[in-house]
Amino acid sequence: MGNRRTRNLLSLVKASAPGKIILFGEHAVVYNRPALAVPVTQVHVDVEILDSPRVGILIHSPGIDLHAELNSLSSAHPIALVILKVFKLCGISQTPDLAINILSTIPVASGLGSGAAVSVALIRALSSYLLHSLSDNEINSLAFEVEKLHHGTPSGIDNTVITYNKPVYFIKGQPIETFKVGRSFTIVIGDTGISALTKESVGDVRSLWLRDTVSFENYFNEIAQIALIGRRSIESGKTELLGELMDQNHALLQNLTVSSPELDKLVEAARTAGALGAKLSGGGRGGNMIALVEQAKAESVADALISAGAKRTIITEISQEGMSQG
Ligand code: PMV
Repeated sequence: MGNRRTRNLLSLVKASAPGKIILFGEHAVVYNRPALAVPVTQVHVDVEILDSPRVGILIHSPGIDLHAELNSLSSAHPIALVILKVFKLCGISQTPDLAINILSTIPVASGLGSGAAVSVALIRALSSYLLHSLSDNEINSLAFEVEKLHHGTPSGIDNTVITYNKPVYFIKGQPIETFKVGRSFTIVIGDTGISALTKESVGDVRSLWLRDTVSFENYFNEIAQIALIGRRSIESGKTELLGELMDQNHALLQNLTVSSPELDKLVEAARTAGALGAKLSGGGRGGNMIALVEQAKAESVADALISAGAKRTIITEISQEGMSQG
């Protein structure tokens, strides 16, 4: 792909952004309840900006099979939108000649934050190329604008956890709160391999909420309690409580109708293989689930997930140190 064409070009700038998982509170967070999310550095988006002998901006994003000139893309294309917004913010009126390579190991539409990670890494790379340093707040706001144009009514949790690269306790519209991890714990992530659009599951939950507001408000309140207790448990190092909380959160997500037979199967398989608790993570209907495990059982739970149909697994350690790198 891009390598052959760009091999002699001078690499000017590189930037990356991690994936993420939501531990507790997805969907309810859209209705102003708190949610907890952590970065996952095992998967990431890397953006490289190279000098180009050609006029204009050439974009290579092999993961989504995109090899195009900026000018040939609609200005509403998420990548074009990010580029144009950064140029505007940095006061660039004349388009420079560049090649932009976007390499991602985050599966698309799977609840691991691939869209927000592309936005954040691209904003960081371009602003650094333009020698216009942006604060995390500015990067986060810009990435959120892009999320809003493409995901309907996003809460903003994805762009926030990915921009700050720290565990966040997130409430829509409120100042960003990061939290400490008192004792590290191990999560196995299992991918159903089914891509599902968050916009659709969020839209379906909204229709159901409009039809049965009382029940859905109750579900959201119960999820909010789980997120709150989850945060306290993580901060105080009482991570053994998290398994039960995950199970309860998954049952409530089933009530919201955002689970699926494949997700339920993986959640069940993880529990049977000895996980302390499991739930879907993110928008649901497909994408990923997460399981809390004792470190020694991580491999066997991951194997059980593969036997139950997971297309891939990631074992990740949630710890204070693990979160401190940029
Ligand atoms: O982007 P995903 O699939 O991880 O889902 C984001 C979480 C939701 O709460 C379902 C939506 C949102 O905007 O917060």
